[in-house]
Amino acid sequence: MNILVLNGSPRASGNTAAMVNAFSEGAQQSGHQVEVVNVCQKKIAGCLACEYCHTKGDGRCIQQDDMQQVYPLLQEAEMIVLASPIYYHSFTGQLQCAINRIYALDKPKKLKKAALIMSSGSNHVYCGAIYEYQNSFLNYLKLEDRIKLCGLSRACDIEMANQLSPEYIGFVFTPKSKRYIPPEKAAGLKELLNPGIKAVGVFVDESPETIAHLLNSGLVDIAQLHGREDESYIDQLRRLTDKPVIKAFRIKSADDMAAAEHCTADSVLLDSGAGTGTVFDWKLVQNITRLYFLAGGLSPDNVKNAVDVLHPFAVDVSSGIESGGVKDPVKMAAFVAAVRKEGKV
Ligand SMILES: Cc1cc2nc3c(=O)[nH]c(=O)nc-3n(C[C@H](O)[C@H](O)[C@H](O)COP(=O)(O)O)c2cc1C
Repeated sequence: MNILVLNGSPRASGNTAAMVNAFSEGAQQSGHQVEVVNVCQKKIAGCLACEYCHTKGDGRCIQQDDMQQVYPLLQEAEMIVLASPIYYHSFTGQLQCAINRIYALDKPKKLKKAALIMSSGSNHVYCGAIYEYQNSFLNYLKLEDRIKLCGLSRACDIEMANQLSPEYIGFVFTPKSKRYIPPEKAAGLKELLNPGIKAVGVFVDESPETIAHLLNSGLVDIAQLHGREDESYIDQLRRLTDKPVIKAFRIKSADDMAAAEHCTADSVLLDSGAGTGTVFDWKLVQNITRLYFLAGGLSPDNVKNAVDVLHPFAVDVSSGIESGGVKDPVKMAAFVAAVRKEGKV
């Protein structure tokens, strides 16, 4: 994949640069091409309000500055990464200029994915940048929302997932669940799974050693904690593995939201209950400032509305794509089509 990183930090060897370097090295080792543009070292002005793009031109920005060098890279990019320190509660002004000038371009045709890298002086200050990224940038680029199809248990479920290409699938490793599969069975299914799809292991109060073993052996790529795991538990798990951790929260009140907001897991999943198929009060989510997986009662019928209203990082579904207790290929396809807004401009 052709990846373009726009780094908005003025410091060539600061915190953002360190993360950009780590990202670039990892991506290159995985066979991707990475181009990093340090926008602070370029002459990129904000919009001059000449309105040429509106009134006289062909919808393109005509300002002659270093953004001219970035436009061709954008047209070739399949993934764009915005990297920035938080300055005054949002991206640096230089990156903000570059983002605004991207809006003066036809949408890059090859772009499929985007990501965000941020550093800051204090905690929990990302809301301005995340809002801009999610509600403006991703919307403008019409990039797809991420999908997790959870509770897959049969080879035919995996075959269908391979056809639909969600970003994540889930294996449930808690014996009390009707969707439980033992790790040996999951290992066989993982072999059938397209390598581009990440496998998430769902655990309830499992021992950190067991989870770390399944992560480090490559049987699953991400752990999702669905029990009463607290911060010290997450800490313990982090000492055993560097693989990502998602912590699930049942959202019934503002206090639950506060706990999710401050959790140190890599991501959080906001749910109504353990696979009960009901929706929680989405109003509670409206002020969240971190990226999250939305779960609980999603189905092919309501997921488009959920994505349009809440703009979650990803949507997670299990019972909503089942008939008679097993995954239904027609519902799986309808769910993915609803999120991807197929057929819509
Ligand atoms: C001009 C300026 C404004 C900043 N504003 C904020 C801010 O609003 N909130 C915050 O948490 N950190 C703020 N910081 C701190 C930076 O986000 C933090 O030091 C960051 O890690 C720097 O990234 P760098 O090493 O790539 O330069 C600011 C730093 C500078 C120089």
